[in-house]
Amino acid sequence: MFALKKRIPAFYFLLMLVLLTPCPAHAVVKTPAAPPKPSVASKAKTGPKKARKKDTAAWDQRMRGLYVTLTRLLAEVSSDSQFNDPANFKRIEADAKLLSELVHDLSAITRDEKTATGERMLSPDTDPSILLMTSLFSEDTKRAYEALKTGHRDYARVVLRTVTGYCIGCHTRSTPAQATRPQEPETPEIKSLSQIERAEFLASTLQNDAALEEFEKIISDPKIRKERQLAWEKTVRYALAIAVRVKRDPARAIKIVDAVLGAGDAPEFLKEDAELWKASIAAWRAETARTLTSEDALYAETVRLITQARMLQKYPADHAADVLYLRVSATVHDLLRIAPNGRYSADALFLLGLSYEALRDMNLWSLHEMSYEACIRKSPHTETAKNCYSHYEETIYAGYSGSGGVSIPKVVAAKLDELEKLSIPQGTKVQ
Ligand code: HEC
Repeated sequence: MFALKKRIPAFYFLLMLVLLTPCPAHAVVKTPAAPPKPSVASKAKTGPKKARKKDTAAWDQRMRGLYVTLTRLLAEVSSDSQFNDPANFKRIEADAKLLSELVHDLSAITRDEKTATGERMLSPDTDPSILLMTSLFSEDTKRAYEALKTGHRDYARVVLRTVTGYCIGCHTRSTPAQATRPQEPETPEIKSLSQIERAEFLASTLQNDAALEEFEKIISDPKIRKERQLAWEKTVRYALAIAVRVKRDPARAIKIVDAVLGAGDAPEFLKEDAELWKASIAAWRAETARTLTSEDALYAETVRLITQARMLQKYPADHAADVLYLRVSATVHDLLRIAPNGRYSADALFLLGLSYEALRDMNLWSLHEMSYEACIRKSPHTETAKNCYSHYEETIYAGYSGSGGVSIPKVVAAKLDELEKLSIPQGTKVQ
């Protein structure tokens, strides 16, 4: 924070002002007690070139494994008759186990822990949020497999149906290296899926051009809109995520938004949001396209965009600024990728938390909690950690009161306690 204040004071103050306005108690910007610890060069940066190449191949191999497993699992869980036919139980269980093992391995790779085969490797993507995503994904797939094994098949099915959300969420963070994988011939299993599931499969496997075309067809289909309202809405959000974050194409984003506005019977609230998205995209189109590559430039851009987003968003659940938040998150992912341990990384995790908190209904991710936690751990005892804790605490409280609870479970309360201690800025007196 200290370093940041010296570098771009105008942004710093503007950012703090905007971020802290909803909560007057926090509106006083205190001078940080100490500069953050010097960043530790990541292993990924210093690793030999040869090893990194091998790691990418090992990662891709697991991704291919996910591709094949997903092909079968989607067909198995999407059809009532297939899922409930006892003749398929063993096969479904075996696929859920394989999925859980593959994802567990990804999680181990991103944590620099040993994989199932006892190897240690570096993840091909240096963005630390990939670690948060693989942890969440690993917990879910493990839970699904356990549920199947213990006979809680309906619950397992619900969880397994959300698998594509993880693939899409991670691949559409920003523009991935292989954003435009060519379309592959469809297997009979994929042909058996509904149009929405097929489109989600395409997006899950980085066949983004084909996915976007399918999503657009779905958005303009009145029958799907009427019969599968919620899935239709999710389609709109996925399409926007690809157009804005992966393709970075305002013209394509406008096309999607126009299709929503042109859908006579689309929900009114979504159309109201779409009007505002359209205005954000028009402003984006008027900007001069730039490729930002330095830490300073990416951070400055993030601050510029989040400032606009916070001004547009009137209350936490307001989706008016979703297009801006998509752009914020893509820029933060770019920043974290080039500088996972850079001078802005804790601030970047805070901004990542804010954008995923706003986008949580995008069905993309509920990453915000983990981002806030990572922010605190990245830069403990700083003003940034304090801001992250304040948002973390609020999210936890909202989560439990929203689900009708009266108290916070002991383990969660203990974690809150731990994080609060870590977040107190140096030099602050503890009561
Ligand atoms: C935590 C992040 C993450 C998740 C979750 C994830 N992937 Fe990937 N995937 C990647 C990365 C990183 C690459 C490398 C390409 C890139 O730069 O994006 C990749 C690449 C791929 C590829 C291309 C591999 C190749 O040989 O070229 C396929 C296929 C793939 N993923 C399938 C899947 C499927 C299916 C799922 C869900 C079941 C999934 N992925 C979930 C991060 C993820």
